[in-house]
Amino acid sequence: MKRIPIIIDCDPGVDDSYAIALANSHPGFEIVALTAVEGNVPAVLTRYNCLCLDETFDIGAKVAYGATVPLVRPYFREESVTHGEGGVGGIQFPEPQKQPEEKAAWDVIYEEAVKYNGELVLFAVGPLTNIATALRKYPDLPKYLKKFVIMGGGTFGNVTATGAKAEFNIWVDPLAAKEVFEKLEVYMVGLNATHAAAVEAKDFDEMIEITSKGTNRASDFLNKLSKFSKENSFERGQDNNVIHDALAIASEINPDVVKYEKHYVWVEDREIENVGETVIEKEGKEPNCWVAMDVDQPLFAQMMIDCCRYYAEK
Ligand code: RIB
Ligand code: CA
Repeated sequence: MKRIPIIIDCDPGVDDSYAIALANSHPGFEIVALTAVEGNVPAVLTRYNCLCLDETFDIGAKVAYGATVPLVRPYFREESVTHGEGGVGGIQFPEPQKQPEEKAAWDVIYEEAVKYNGELVLFAVGPLTNIATALRKYPDLPKYLKKFVIMGGGTFGNVTATGAKAEFNIWVDPLAAKEVFEKLEVYMVGLNATHAAAVEAKDFDEMIEITSKGTNRASDFLNKLSKFSKENSFERGQDNNVIHDALAIASEINPDVVKYEKHYVWVEDREIENVGETVIEKEGKEPNCWVAMDVDQPLFAQMMIDCCRYYAEK
């Protein structure tokens, strides 16, 4: 099978970690780079976690550092309850031996896109600062990409501070998102889809059971991550069973897991009540975005379980 080269721009992050694990477990993908952006936790941590995750799953991808702050409104969150101490469920990594690229994330994204000349699929599962910066520096980037898939936006929000009109990745850097939606055709896996694909306690139990039998670093990591996720789910306000970023990856592994509708989508970047909203207009304008609407939750849950089995049996 000819493998599809992919880049995952991310802010690991618990669900980012599952996304990386899932992508790496798919024989049809070659992760050529992990690029770090600020978001769930400060950039110093998302960068460190990218290095550690590359080593944990023995990927061998380039790791490149991107933005530390959004384009306009500063954003900094020291720690995240959802993502735990250090940003990956409080899991401690061995000190990484891997070195990051000297080049910035946006330069690596462009160089790899040109190298693969239309074969590269770019995933963005954090704020879109790096992608917007790449597009500003390299306006011809779109012609070198096969597809651009994000976890972000959706038909409702999760940033309660702004009345829950905005989803976190978009809200952190609304100008970046606005520019990206204006310049690229986006496959948008948003909150409406990720929440509909939320895994159940029995799914976590199976993931934990399977990885408890593994005897390698990746399986042990996924065992700890699944335990953290289950412990931080199903209670009021705890939704670690919504494995947002992994659904974006899954949608490209198995097209049956997500059904898209094409609509015109723009991003509110003015600092008003619905700042960061991905405004979906179903009439009147030329559609520019594939919006994930329906999901196959059992299929997604099975993909997450099979991902755990892949590492446990390595
Ligand atoms: O709103 C969910 C998104 O924000 C996910 O990508 C999660 O990792 C955080 O970045
Ligand atoms: Ca993320």
